[in-house]
Amino acid sequence: MSRFSEPQHETFRALNDSLAFDWRLGPYDVQQSRAHAAMLAAQSIISPAERDELHRALDQVEQELANGVLPFADGDEDIHMAIERRVTELAGRVGGKLHTARSRNDQVATDVAMFVRAHGHRAVEQTSRLARTLADLAESHLDWSMPGYTHLQRAQPVYLSHHLLAYAWMTIRDRDRFALVVSAVSSLPLGAGALAGVNFDTDRELVARELGFASVAENSIDAVSNRDFVLDYLGAAATCATHLSRLGAEIVLWSSEEFGFCEVADAWASGSSIMPQKKNPDAAELLRAKAPRVAGHLVALHGVLHGLPLTYNKDIQEDKEHLFDAADTVELCLEAAAGMLSSIRFRRERLAGAASDELLAATDVADLLVRRGVPFREAHGVVAGLVRSAIDQGKRLSELTPDELTRHSPLLGNEFYALLREGAWLETKRSRGGTSLTRVREQLERLRATL
Ligand code: ARG
Repeated sequence: MSRFSEPQHETFRALNDSLAFDWRLGPYDVQQSRAHAAMLAAQSIISPAERDELHRALDQVEQELANGVLPFADGDEDIHMAIERRVTELAGRVGGKLHTARSRNDQVATDVAMFVRAHGHRAVEQTSRLARTLADLAESHLDWSMPGYTHLQRAQPVYLSHHLLAYAWMTIRDRDRFALVVSAVSSLPLGAGALAGVNFDTDRELVARELGFASVAENSIDAVSNRDFVLDYLGAAATCATHLSRLGAEIVLWSSEEFGFCEVADAWASGSSIMPQKKNPDAAELLRAKAPRVAGHLVALHGVLHGLPLTYNKDIQEDKEHLFDAADTVELCLEAAAGMLSSIRFRRERLAGAASDELLAATDVADLLVRRGVPFREAHGVVAGLVRSAIDQGKRLSELTPDELTRHSPLLGNEFYALLREGAWLETKRSRGGTSLTRVREQLERLRATL
């Protein structure tokens, strides 16, 4: 019997059915169904023989899912119904007992939580690997100097290792953020029923233990409405994708002949269909471009959930495609970033050439005056004057004459020329977290320790 007098309109089905994407929850659905059936038997709600029959059918469904041969039927609205229908085909009438004391509302929340946990773990592994790749690169380019930039204008020289480690620390924060996501999906929705709890003496703790949840959701209404863990995952994924996008953008820039700082390996580049000379850093460009897509998924789910009355509403079905695509995107990008970086080649002469621009020493010249008692603000003005007169005359700073120097400040003399000659401005940045080699080695060690 059905409550309905006519079949669903095919357009309604196209809108309403979720099997086309939620099949990905299949393995989690089987796992939780197995735990649920075990609990029903432990509580004498079904018999041990019935549990075994259900388990046997679930084992086969699991195989069929793994081999991609689970037959879907016309009426399968979503993966939960498909699995239950298949279990019933295989086990007979007892299959109908699997859904005792359970609703699709607590079931789907549980599957999605399990998906988030699994992919949170994967992201922790991938970000760790990427951070390791960056640390290795830093180690092999420890004392390669390059200009550091602000406003994309040459600012002060740094070591390439220092620059690369900046990305490593961002990646470590991503790892930690994903780890938080994993630890936050710790309470089990299953057992909440449709919204109010169920009419049986269930043992939710048993199911929680079986499925690796630390606790059970305390409120059945919250349990079926809650998708915070998806927002958490999407938040971590969006930040991570944004980081990868900054990395990609720099590689794109650095690969251009104008910078000429690096070259990605051929395996990570493409050619042009018309210009035979082209080698394009497409992987880096796509890392740059994928971020808004992931951030869009986060914003979209906030949109779905905001203002949504309790408890379950079909709106919540919209969590999945955002979650799945964000996971696919960020996992592919993390993989690509690590692969591209492990074969990238940096060009030492180009980096060093750009770093040898004497104007990058301007702050250090000002600090020379500061050490002689000139307030920094005044020193800043003096050096600005020096820079200006050098630029006006088309000279390098070191080509200014001693007379010109004293005209700007009587305190400037030989040390000025020595400073520019040594080019050792990087090594004087020895404050904690700065670019001097000792400090870079120190941070590399700290980074390795967190890995
Ligand atoms: N496919 C649904 C979803 O993804 C499963 C839950 C359906 N629950 C319901 N009461 N119709 O959210």
